[in-house]
Amino acid sequence: MSGVNFKACIFDLDGVIVDTARYHYLAWRRLAHELGFDFSLEQNERLKGVSRMRSLEILLEVGGKTLSQTEMEVAAARKNAWYVDYISRLQPEEILPGVEKFLNELKEQGIKTAIGSASKNAGLILRRLNLMDRFETIVDGHKVTKAKPDPEIFLTAARELGVKVSESIVFEDAQAGVEAAHNGKMLCIGVGDPDMLEQADIIINGFEQLTWERVKTWLSR
Ligand code: BG6
Ligand code: MG
Repeated sequence: MSGVNFKACIFDLDGVIVDTARYHYLAWRRLAHELGFDFSLEQNERLKGVSRMRSLEILLEVGGKTLSQTEMEVAAARKNAWYVDYISRLQPEEILPGVEKFLNELKEQGIKTAIGSASKNAGLILRRLNLMDRFETIVDGHKVTKAKPDPEIFLTAARELGVKVSESIVFEDAQAGVEAAHNGKMLCIGVGDPDMLEQADIIINGFEQLTWERVKTWLSR
């Protein structure tokens, strides 16, 4: 890896920039209860990073339920309405600690930044957090057709930033996202629980202690 000139950082949104995972969980659990079963936090781990419809399929699998295509669309829309209700109250204070400082440092160093998220609500979340203008490009669930672990989201972000995959670093909190980065031949920094993210090239527990110098040193070894 030595000698690589990193030019861009691509950030997943949910769970990396802001902890929206708990709102997703509350909304999915509410749907599960309506359908007559419970849904644990542990089971929710499987939903992280994957698309809305795939999440619903996993939820139904957990509950041992089958729905028709139309019923599934109605259920996904109900869940999303509850979720949107939660996130439309998000405040900039909920940006995870150290994120803004790290983004400022990347800007000073001339490193390009992008959001690479499966969410179709990414625009709303970024607007609520006043972060819309802090990234050169935003690739979200409206721009791509293939969900993580397919690398389409991250490859699109690198292309829009005008950098090679080998010059890009992905930040991810979900197993499906780490796989997506690796499927795109990109290095991946896992953010969160080392037990859940063991495939990541490096794991950090947050951005508070992170500096660009440290990232370069780790990834150049
Ligand atoms: C990802 C989340 O960022 O977006 C997943 O980790 C979620 O849990 C996916 O299912 C799609 O989000 P949305 O907002 O389009 O339902
Ligand atoms: Mg995530």
